[in-house]
Amino acid sequence: MFEVSMFQIFVIFMIILYIIKRPRIGKNEPPFVPYTIPILGHTYNYLFNPKKFIKECKEQYGDCFSIYVFGHVMTVVSRDSLTEVFRNSDDFDFSSAINELLPFHRLFTYNGGITKETNIFHAKTAREQVSGKLALNTNIVQKYLMKGMDKCIGDCNDPKIVDNTWLTFNNIVALSITNIFAGEEAAIHEDLIKSFGSFAFDVGSLLMIPPILSFIHPKLHEIVITLPMKFGWNPVSRHREVVMNRLRPVIEKRLKEKTILGNNYKPYNDLLEYYMNQPNFDYTIPDNLSYHVENLLVLVFASINTTSRTVVDALYDLAGRPEVLNELYEEALTINKECNGTITILEIQKMEKLDSFIKESLRHSDNILALPHYMISKSYTFSNGYTILRGRKVLMCADDMLKAKECYGDDAEEFKPFRFVNAKSPATKIDRSYIVFGGGRHACPGRFFAITETKLLLHKLIMKYKFSTKSGKIEKKIYIGPITIPSQSSLVFENRVKC
Ligand SMILES: *[C@@H]1O[C@H](CO)[C@@H](O)[C@H](O)[C@H]1NC(C)=O
Ligand SMILES: *[C@@H]1O[C@H](CO)[C@@H](O)[C@H](O)[C@H]1NC(C)=O
Ligand SMILES: *[C@@H]1O[C@H](CO)[C@@H](O)[C@H](O)[C@H]1NC(C)=O
Repeated sequence: MFEVSMFQIFVIFMIILYIIKRPRIGKNEPPFVPYTIPILGHTYNYLFNPKKFIKECKEQYGDCFSIYVFGHVMTVVSRDSLTEVFRNSDDFDFSSAINELLPFHRLFTYNGGITKETNIFHAKTAREQVSGKLALNTNIVQKYLMKGMDKCIGDCNDPKIVDNTWLTFNNIVALSITNIFAGEEAAIHEDLIKSFGSFAFDVGSLLMIPPILSFIHPKLHEIVITLPMKFGWNPVSRHREVVMNRLRPVIEKRLKEKTILGNNYKPYNDLLEYYMNQPNFDYTIPDNLSYHVENLLVLVFASINTTSRTVVDALYDLAGRPEVLNELYEEALTINKECNGTITILEIQKMEKLDSFIKESLRHSDNILALPHYMISKSYTFSNGYTILRGRKVLMCADDMLKAKECYGDDAEEFKPFRFVNAKSPATKIDRSYIVFGGGRHACPGRFFAITETKLLLHKLIMKYKFSTKSGKIEKKIYIGPITIPSQSSLVFENRVKC
């Protein structure tokens, strides 16, 4: 008798996989780091030991080398090679690499998701309407940050322990962003704020599925994570419905105002008004409103969760360093006196120490590998002579670049909160090594808004509270593979002025 056990099938499958998936490396490619475990390659080190692994590879192979992870060869770049990736945006594409992790083109069914083409519009919106309207919107942002603070942290006459810090501060940021994206009229609705606040979280849940099937083929991973959508589950559509329901009456009201007031109509400064002014806007066509609402949700995705992340990282960095908190309080107090508590864009620009501190906090985001790009032209030859072909994924050594000694000096590894004071180097300024907002022509256009919002919220927090880590120590971030999330330990808040 001839019996085939599961085990034998498994072994045969693995052998086939081994043969078809053996990495093929061309002649002039960056050095390929050798590995011992077939199929798995460097996956284990990538997931569980990324810092040491990448450091050792860099020491041995230089600023440009390739590793083998989840069944794929990936080229890892730092220093000059990294700069080249940003410079040559016709050869290297960020959106296709993001779509592989999160299939936006399938999740967003009306606006085509986030592609190289649609991104031009979204980037323009972020640059002109979000970052570009900072001065106009500071008051509203400030008002709702304060409201959010009162609601989510509130009175701390007795020391109050805040758990779930990221979620808490995400709710505060969501309240203020909903008001300047959807407008104050729509933002009175709790469900809209909740929808905006949890959008990135719901969509991002797909990120948590490990790409095991990529060992066989990356498309297989995409097919499986989008399978639930075939049965009607789509995290975007639920939120789209909420947003449409809340925006429709506001749109009707504004259109009425327009007909009544004519030239006397005073346009609102929110994103809704901007989308309403698009030449192809017609909310009576259901698909058309869906299209514009999805455009709005793309910006929601890109802004709320990332801004709250910046705030929370800075909070932890501050909560573990009471002497820095005191120094920032002094600065805040001076500025607050000058303007009698009402901050405008001018005061925000005066917060130099705070700006430096936030920049240093961002520089210490500690992501080892980030900003994946796909090489999309026929082939690309780096100035070091190495060549990669179309379809190669490129990952950036974020931590290595952000702590480059030639840019920050011998103490580049250290956390020096006031490193950038008087250095003409604000937190929004992109340069060769400061790559937290990407680089080149496609650097994040929302960064001016994100930094301003972060400064404003931290300013208000510093004025109102003393805060510290519960442990009294500087808390470390948590690694998930080569990227970090904020610490999950508690923070303690206490009113500065007791009553
Ligand atoms: C932010 O988004 C990421 C992934 O998209 C998610 O894992 C994280 O929990 C989100 N954070 C909050 C506070 O929603
Ligand atoms: C509605 O939206 C689509 C995009 O899906 C756009 O191309 C079209 O011109 C819009 N306007 C009308 C009136 O349909
Ligand atoms: C500052 O604000 C307080 C109350 O908010 C007000 O009583 C006071 O007159 C203001 N001072 C100036 C100089 O505007």
